Amino acid sequence: MAEFAGAFAASHGPLIIREWTAVPQPEKDRLTTAFKELGRRLAAAKPDVLIVVSPDHWSNFFLDNYPAVCIGVGETNDGPPEPWMKDFPHRTLAGHPRLASHLVNESMREGFEPTVSHRLKLDHGSCIPLWRMQLDTLPKIVPLLLNSIEPPMPSLSRCLQWGRFLRKAIESYAGKLRVAVLGTGGLSHSIGEKTMGAIHEDFDRETIRLFSSSEQSLISFLEKELPARGNGSEEVRNWLVAHGAAGGRGFELVDYLPVPAVIVGCGFASWRV
Ligand SMILES: [Fe+2]
Repeated sequence: MAEFAGAFAASHGPLIIREWTAVPQPEKDRLTTAFKELGRRLAAAKPDVLIVVSPDHWSNFFLDNYPAVCIGVGETNDGPPEPWMKDFPHRTLAGHPRLASHLVNESMREGFEPTVSHRLKLDHGSCIPLWRMQLDTLPKIVPLLLNSIEPPMPSLSRCLQWGRFLRKAIESYAGKLRVAVLGTGGLSHSIGEKTMGAIHEDFDRETIRLFSSSEQSLISFLEKELPARGNGSEEVRNWLVAHGAAGGRGFELVDYLPVPAVIVGCGFASWRV
């Protein structure tokens, strides 16, 4: 049977790449160290496959057709389409069709209804963390694109359920694989709205604290606070998937820092297996 190798989470604000030269040196150093440390922890978990849970930033889907959840079952995924991601070192990323199809089939059996794609473009949401973690070898990637940017979005509780489901499905897969989960996005940021650029450090720190509290406290806090904390903050859903996969236990924070130059409260965390 496959083994769950661990859960990880990282922010992915575009300006981490696009405006990197404008980031003050001390923050650049901390971001670089945090991504590398997360990469070290991920590499130490020795995953053969990484399920990357990210929103799609209009790279595969648009308002006319935006699924709540899409699982990539292809042999191959395409690298990021954004021109400013052109230096990302992979134009294609190997998938794992057999595990991905197992996740799809089991999810349907368990009452989830993801859509499926045989070839996805993995935009900056997936690829900034993969790039900045500086992994020597990239595991095979099973993308799970979760709508965490455009209402209506899956509920926060549903995201935890997806995480718990992933854990169970990984452990029921007939094959010798180590499988990790990476949730990307958040923490607080605001894109294309009147509050663009705002970072809510207090919200971010309380969210981080509550990941070590009860799931009910965490969900209640987020349900109340998210509507006023910037649209990008909704991406914390992907952290909830990682949290659910790890069994809802508190994570080990790698670092948290608000970075005005990239307009994101940047968080990095790993969950113990
Ligand atoms: Fe995003």
